[in-house]
Amino acid sequence: MAQQRKVRKAVFPVAGLGTRFLPATKAIPKEMLTVVDKPVIQYVVDEARAAGIEHFIFVTGRNKAVIEDHFDIQVELNATLKKREKHDEIASLQAGQPKPGQTSFTRQQEPLGLGHAVWCARELVGDEPFALLLPDMVMQDDKGCLTGMVELYDKVGGNVISVEEVPEDQTHNYGIVGVGEDIDADGFQIASMVEKPAPGTAPSNYFINGRYILQPEIFKILETQERGAGNEIQITDAMLKLAERQSFSAYRFRGNTFDCGSKEGFIKANVSFALRRDDIRAKVEDDLRLMLDAI
Ligand code: UTP
Repeated sequence: MAQQRKVRKAVFPVAGLGTRFLPATKAIPKEMLTVVDKPVIQYVVDEARAAGIEHFIFVTGRNKAVIEDHFDIQVELNATLKKREKHDEIASLQAGQPKPGQTSFTRQQEPLGLGHAVWCARELVGDEPFALLLPDMVMQDDKGCLTGMVELYDKVGGNVISVEEVPEDQTHNYGIVGVGEDIDADGFQIASMVEKPAPGTAPSNYFINGRYILQPEIFKILETQERGAGNEIQITDAMLKLAERQSFSAYRFRGNTFDCGSKEGFIKANVSFALRRDDIRAKVEDDLRLMLDAI
């Protein structure tokens, strides 16, 4: 088996306007909205760290400076917590803290689309494979979605996209992949890709759920990529071109994905993560049942 180049860097595009979540996102980036007690972006960075990522690249925009602050050390806060002997709180802050030099921030000056946001990270990524994680999509899985993808990548190399099944009547809302040969129980070769196929035309019901491992040749394609759906520069269009000369494999993700860029996904994430927390479940479970009974 050929040795693959290690995936060391991850790109987090956080320059979107979050219009689906207004007015909440007027002054607060949607990535800083909290699921239970952590900002959405922290879940995604933690997933990347667990998968072995060593460098975290954020593509930000206007009004997103608070994301940079979140991943910095708050010296005064730490001193106060120490004085008050709040050891658990100090430990929880340290757990999410990248080490010095592990983060980079660049700006997408105009929100021209996800593909354009990724292209803005080209100098920071350089000539090596990288992970791309859409911070809206919060994954719930013991293993970690990106960890599973890296395992598949170590076997097959090339480009790897995480997918999961949706009901057939919802495929038109997503990027969908066509299913080629099986690689193993967790993966298959991607035969085709289509962004939001017209109802009844989808090649499968496997949708692209917001996690990618891409080869750096994608940047050259993005440089000249024209606007596509929604008049935005789309990553899927660039991946289709890259697929003409490089392999694309799908990782079958079997955990839960919450689209925290939508109100319903965000609420479901809060309920689901709260119910999985020993310190919270007992306090909210009965009330949730009563609320449901009352409707
Ligand atoms: P979305 O389309 O879900 O994000 O893009 P959005 O544009 O913020 O959302 P709405 O539809 O207005 O509510 C998917 C991801 O790509 C990033 C977003 O921040 C999100 O993480 N993105 C999108 C950019 O960084 N730049 C863009 O120009 C577009």
